[in-house]
Amino acid sequence: MVNAPSIVRPILTEALRMPKITFITPNGERHDVEVENGYSVMEGAINNNIEGIVAECGGACACATCHSYIDEAWVSKLAEMDDMEDSMLDAAFERKDNSRLTCQIEVSDELDGLVVHVAENDY
Ligand code: FES
Repeated sequence: MVNAPSIVRPILTEALRMPKITFITPNGERHDVEVENGYSVMEGAINNNIEGIVAECGGACACATCHSYIDEAWVSKLAEMDDMEDSMLDAAFERKDNSRLTCQIEVSDELDGLVVHVAENDY
């Protein structure tokens, strides 16, 4: 990017900007990572070796091992869950009102700053 003409540089910078997501693992460790738009929050966790996100089914909404608790400030900013996610969450350990399957949440600019508390998924 150093050699890009100054008129192109802002466009490239915007294209490369990635939303930041904070994962807080069950042991209390905080990880601030950047995840490319269009990926799922689960994929962002796996790509950054976030402990506790197992994702056994690879994102097919069939295992609940990507279960996390969405920080209360962000719950209303996410798209509503569909029936499949809702029923799969019934199989998750310690489901709460802010439970979501991270494989079903698509990263976008609107989720920049999202805070995700990873559930106990490796029981
Ligand atoms: S990765 Fe299996 S339900 Fe999300």
